[in-house]
Amino acid sequence: MTISDDARRAAEAVNGERLWTRLMRMAEFGARTDGGVDRPCLSAVDQAARTELIGWAEARGYQVSVDRAANLFIRREGRGNGPAILTGSHMDSQPKGGRFDGIGGVLGGLEALDAITEAGLETERAIEVVAFTNEEGGRFSPGCTGSMSWSGARDATSFDDIVDENGVRYADALNETISKAPQLATRPLGGAPAAYVELHIEQGPVLEKKGLEIAAVTGIQGVRWYGMEISGETAHAGTTPLALRRDAVQAAHRAIAALNTLMADPEDVIRFTVGRIEVEPNSPNTVADKVRFTIDFRHPDRTVLEERGSAIEEVVKEAAAPCEAVITPSLFSDPAHFPEPIVATIEQAAHALDFGVMRLPSGAFHDALFASQICPTAMIFVPCRNGISHHPDEYASPEHMEAGTRVLAATLVDLANGNATV
Ligand code: GLV
Ligand code: MN
Ligand code: MN
Repeated sequence: MTISDDARRAAEAVNGERLWTRLMRMAEFGARTDGGVDRPCLSAVDQAARTELIGWAEARGYQVSVDRAANLFIRREGRGNGPAILTGSHMDSQPKGGRFDGIGGVLGGLEALDAITEAGLETERAIEVVAFTNEEGGRFSPGCTGSMSWSGARDATSFDDIVDENGVRYADALNETISKAPQLATRPLGGAPAAYVELHIEQGPVLEKKGLEIAAVTGIQGVRWYGMEISGETAHAGTTPLALRRDAVQAAHRAIAALNTLMADPEDVIRFTVGRIEVEPNSPNTVADKVRFTIDFRHPDRTVLEERGSAIEEVVKEAAAPCEAVITPSLFSDPAHFPEPIVATIEQAAHALDFGVMRLPSGAFHDALFASQICPTAMIFVPCRNGISHHPDEYASPEHMEAGTRVLAATLVDLANGNATV
């Protein structure tokens, strides 16, 4: 099988220069002095980036709408009125993030729409680009609240009371962001598309090492996030004998050591991270009475996630004694396995356009994880330099971003015209 003439014309109309110019423009919203990006979701810089994106979309005559979770949708109409083909990603970044994670998939999607338009093509199904809210979870934890609300994986209102480090409620930040673009049509959450395809940088080293331009992504490993709160008692650091203390920092240290033992994996497949630790009162000469830390635990096998995940609470409680420990699960997803036909469609499009392609599972999670629960889903990866991501040095070349967008445009056209099965 190969791609249709229309798919090839769309791919050829992709304008790599325009894509790169837009990527670099977006990198100005939340630009860090070290070359990276800090664009917390629903912040002033995120809102400004959204305004820029909406302006580009409206200038081309696409219809832009927003749902209750502040997910933005850019729609290019089709001839028919069946469910659309959806592409996209997210616009928020990590605090010390890069210029490509997430935004590359949103701008690649917009470029694909423009290429289809400039190639003079009509498609049977509409094609939509989505910018999901809060994929990263850096400001409001957990991540993927936009795609979980949209897909129904979690009730959208269950996130309303999450607060950021300044006490701002997620629901208030959503409403403020939605109010910045009052001209937009509103749409209900949900409405499963016919398929979802997300373009993203690989965030790992494999494609670069193999000298390939494209990966057809086969699935995403499962993930669990937990918040841990250890409670002890404050005391004077100079006077209180160690035997009389209930020191929350020491308890957290024992708990993390015990978790490292629980998560030990000779095959090095388990991913276990404590990425945030907060201490109260956070004073050098006071024994701490509170430590909060996060757990990010991932594995491609559901059984491993279940077995080790369910052991976490007991391990922490035992290690933290005589301090108390409370565990709050915040993100839960089983591994996703993308359907063969849509993975094969991407692979064939890459072959037909003369790009080197391989299949690859994703270690990072993406909005595609939750899209895959309601519609046929797959992803396209392009290489990133030295595999670096979630870091200011994150870099994907203009050529690779263009290659990924060409494969995306061809895939979207063939899916929208029923030339590819899902
Ligand atoms: C996504 O940002 C992830 O942490 O995998
Ligand atoms: Mn991302
Ligand atoms: Mn990310």
